[in-house]
Amino acid sequence: MPWERTAIVFTVLLVYSISQVEGLEEKQDDDQCADLKNTTLKEYRQRRANLEVKYLLMTRENVNCPQMFQQKSLTTKTTHFNASRPTKVIIHGYRALGTKPLWVKELAQALLLAQDVNVLVVDWIYCASFAYNLVVESYKEVALQISVLINQLQNYGCKLQSFHLIGVSLGAHVAGFVGTLFEGKLGRITGLDPAGPLFKRADTYDRLDPSDAQFVEAIHTDTDYFGISIPVGHVDFYLNGGKDQAGCARSRFPSVYGYVICDHMRALLVYMSALDGSCPLVGIPCSTYEDFLKGNCVTCDVFQGACPHIGLSENSGINMSPLPTEQKMFLLTTSSAPFCAHHILVKLEVSSLDKRAEVEVTLKTEKLSTQLQLRLQTDTTVYRSVVAHPAALCEMDSIEMRNTGARLYRQGDIHVKSVCVSEVPCVRYRKPLCVNNFNVRRNALWSHDLVQVCDT
Ligand SMILES: *[C@@H]1O[C@H](CO)[C@@H](O)[C@H](O)[C@H]1NC(C)=O
Ligand SMILES: *[C@@H]1O[C@H](CO)[C@@H](O)[C@H](O)[C@H]1NC(C)=O
Repeated sequence: MPWERTAIVFTVLLVYSISQVEGLEEKQDDDQCADLKNTTLKEYRQRRANLEVKYLLMTRENVNCPQMFQQKSLTTKTTHFNASRPTKVIIHGYRALGTKPLWVKELAQALLLAQDVNVLVVDWIYCASFAYNLVVESYKEVALQISVLINQLQNYGCKLQSFHLIGVSLGAHVAGFVGTLFEGKLGRITGLDPAGPLFKRADTYDRLDPSDAQFVEAIHTDTDYFGISIPVGHVDFYLNGGKDQAGCARSRFPSVYGYVICDHMRALLVYMSALDGSCPLVGIPCSTYEDFLKGNCVTCDVFQGACPHIGLSENSGINMSPLPTEQKMFLLTTSSAPFCAHHILVKLEVSSLDKRAEVEVTLKTEKLSTQLQLRLQTDTTVYRSVVAHPAALCEMDSIEMRNTGARLYRQGDIHVKSVCVSEVPCVRYRKPLCVNNFNVRRNALWSHDLVQVCDT
């Protein structure tokens, strides 16, 4: 329909010249800003056949007003793309309903606040929507198109090393395949809850893996539904074990789409909140979540002491070479932004019991408290557990214990040989805080003040 296209070109020219006349181009009101677009089933059927990926560009010069971007934009004076800066490429994932992802601008803005970069947003919505299996069939073609653009940008002086691809869900595997096409020479790939369905048993050629870039990291938040459970990067951060996230409704038969997606989208929210660097999200290397929760992994010795953290630091703060691969990292988070929590190891030793018992340990600051329930058995006397607390250990005012199992287990006094608390990752010169030799009676609260000073 050439007349339609001509009409559009005319309209655009007209709007453009009017804005020239009135000097409106300075203001860049919303109408002139590019945006991602929802797609419809009808459009989708028509356009799948000739897949064309589109791009939006955001930089510090147009933080609120994305520009359309294509290779020929580079030859125009109006583009804000600057080949001397590093480039971040945001790749969204599967869109069940064909709607545009609403978080894209926010992620791009958070990146721009942190670094002076070009942010390219890949728009492949019309090809990423509706039937998941068909979308999975075409993700490699999307990757191919992105690689064509990166090749062209190389001709303008961009270095492969300076590209950082950030892929959400299925977008992580798109990023992975772009990386494969460049034989792992791209600088960095971040997978935000890389998609699981149809990828768990995929060959590394078909999914994100550590050979796809010089540094590959992934954040896992929904490994039991939409996310992939296996590690796919040099480091893989599993938040709260990677399955269920604090503050996301848990239901076996979720009726609302939002509930289903809450765990999956948490990776993105945590990543965005980590970008300003105000709140450290530090991972602890461990082989399983159970071991991590039991306090069996408390150091970052495998990384020569420096624990990797989520964010933009080079190699997530790892300064060893060669880099590890598929290293599982665990961390606990709070249920809302900025999500970071301190990990506190509680170690309890009791005199042996003749009946089972249950105790509740509470760590308190003036305003915040964290509780831990422990089931005590007759054949064990030492218990270890890592809990999340919004405050650092040095800010803790008191520790409390209750003998809560009285009704269930009829255990009277519990003799505590020691209860110790320490922050994880452990710092060698800092000894755990311990209280020794006391009884926790039935129906009576035991409490002890903690007095200490935070390092400044
Ligand atoms: C491009 O970026 C470089 C490095 O940040 C800067 O020195 C240069 O002035 C920029 N060029 C333009 C045209 O903005
Ligand atoms: C796109 O989809 C979103 C979510 O359903 C909706 O709120 C928005 O109005 C739609 N935008 C357009 C331009 O249709």
